[in-house]
Amino acid sequence: MVTVQKLSSVQRPEMFRHLKTLTPEDRRLRFGTYMLDGALQQYVSRIDFTRDKVFGIFGDDRSLVGMAHVALDRNRQYAELGLSVAPAQRGKGYGLALLNRGQLSAVTRGYTTLFMHCLAENKIMTHLAQKAGLKLVIEQGEVDALLELEATSPAAVAREAIEDQLALADVMIRQQFTWLYRRPLGAA
Ligand SMILES: CC(C)(COP(=O)(O)OP(=O)(O)OC[C@H]1O[C@@H](n2cnc3c(N)ncnc32)[C@H](O)[C@@H]1OP(=O)(O)O)[C@@H](O)C(=O)NCCC(=O)NCCS
Repeated sequence: MVTVQKLSSVQRPEMFRHLKTLTPEDRRLRFGTYMLDGALQQYVSRIDFTRDKVFGIFGDDRSLVGMAHVALDRNRQYAELGLSVAPAQRGKGYGLALLNRGQLSAVTRGYTTLFMHCLAENKIMTHLAQKAGLKLVIEQGEVDALLELEATSPAAVAREAIEDQLALADVMIRQQFTWLYRRPLGAA
């Protein structure tokens, strides 16, 4: 099972570190344009945590290996999702887990549409979007992937609460593991 954590503004440095692991081509696929490190840093510093939701997956070394940004547009009831997974960690289901978690968060907040914008050449992303049930609209080299979201329900809210609890348990277990196996102070 893949555990997805909800990220907060204090984790901006981890987000920047993760995004820097993306190759120039990955950055173009993620943001639609080539992004230098400075642009990535600006992007991270501008994420509005009072409005949007950000989710992440941590690796065994506790570095952030995947991230989803759910940008929420209250006026249009649109939730726009952007995803990235570190190159060395792909193909393990992290992308789909982040997409599903982003979708659940939009459902429980009453959003009606999930939206993803990607380049038509991004075969992995179009495959993932279709697998998650999003409808693809392809136009001039670009793809808009859309999903009409189910209405929020007590079951969806309960599912999100359970996922958050599992994520919290995962953090605590990893923390305890670190404490148990840390080298005693003064040990050679
Ligand atoms: C898109 C991305 C997030 C996927 O991450 P991931 O962790 O590898 O995703 P998953 O492991 O959940 O799924 C990958 C799927 O793509 C499939 N895949 C791999 N290479 C593929 C290819 N060339 N063509 C089509 N599908 C491909 C895998 O088989 C897998 O599908 P399956 O589970 O049905 O077998 C990652 O590739 C990435 O960060 N890319 C750069 C940024 C980007 O493109 N972001 C999306 C735009 S917002």
